[in-house]
Amino acid sequence: MPRLRSLLFVPGDRPDRMEKALALGADALILDLEDAVAAAAKPAARDMVAAFLRTERRATVFVRINPLDSGLSDDDLAAVLPARPDGIMLPKAEGGASLAALDAKLSGDTMILPIASETPAAIFALGGYGGVTPRLAGLTWGAEDLPAAIGATTSREADGSYTAPYQLARSLTLFGAHAAGVPAIETVYPDFRDLDGLAAYAARGRRDGFTGMMAIHPAQVAVINAAFSPSEPEIAQARAVIALFDANPGAGALALDGKMIDAPHLKAARALLAGLAT
Ligand code: COA
Ligand code: MG
Repeated sequence: MPRLRSLLFVPGDRPDRMEKALALGADALILDLEDAVAAAAKPAARDMVAAFLRTERRATVFVRINPLDSGLSDDDLAAVLPARPDGIMLPKAEGGASLAALDAKLSGDTMILPIASETPAAIFALGGYGGVTPRLAGLTWGAEDLPAAIGATTSREADGSYTAPYQLARSLTLFGAHAAGVPAIETVYPDFRDLDGLAAYAARGRRDGFTGMMAIHPAQVAVINAAFSPSEPEIAQARAVIALFDANPGAGALALDGKMIDAPHLKAARALLAGLAT
């Protein structure tokens, strides 16, 4: 699976922006055929996305199709699959059943990245993504569609933090991804002029166990890449943990700089350094 720190959305009817997006250092692009494209523009957008996919590829490229029950997704797939996208993003996913339904339509090693929290039923299916298909590239969530689906006026408090229902959706996505053994991808930060707010948001995501995040604007990419890359002190600390365990074979718990370290610290240190290698 490719490294997925930053995934930049580009509307599927904006080929000029697709070209620009390649130069921004995003680990992946998500070419959107769903919410960012008006209904009347979707047929042309399918052709533009397919044409872009046939050009020389310098990033991992996902295509966000329309939901499986929209009546549009089969036409989306028919248009883009021959052009071999690296993966399909599935909006309004509802657990293992929708994952299996899309899996059956794909061939080769095409990945699937579901947005797993956009309907009320989806929330109750967040534990069901594991063991369905090796195509699963991660799990992400959204805080924009679910409020509309349940008649909520917003997902955010006045200070921008999530209200309780959306904290729950975020947490369940995080645990659902890890239960399925795939990366948890944090959702977009819509206020794209507020890069300090983005940095703080992404840092909280990494702290909590997300390993990447979606972006909507070029300015967000570098901030997100930095937030989801280990800092030099973190790398040094991980090396010190591993060195101490190597120097004390058979030890369960050890002291490093006056703090107890044991198995979970060793596991985290190994995971951090393994992430550098990919
Ligand atoms: N990908 C690539 N390039 C982008 C881009 C994107 N997602 N968003 C903006 N740009 C480019 C613009 O073309 C512009 O390029 P230029 O300087 O060469 O003219 C530059 O970045 C600055 O754009 P800016 O004027 O700040 O943004 P805007 O007001 O034109 O557009 C958005 C704002 C939100 C409409 C736009 O960023 C966008 O379309 N984002 C993705 C939306 C999306 O896909 N949503 C679905 C998932 S939530
Ligand atoms: Mg949406």
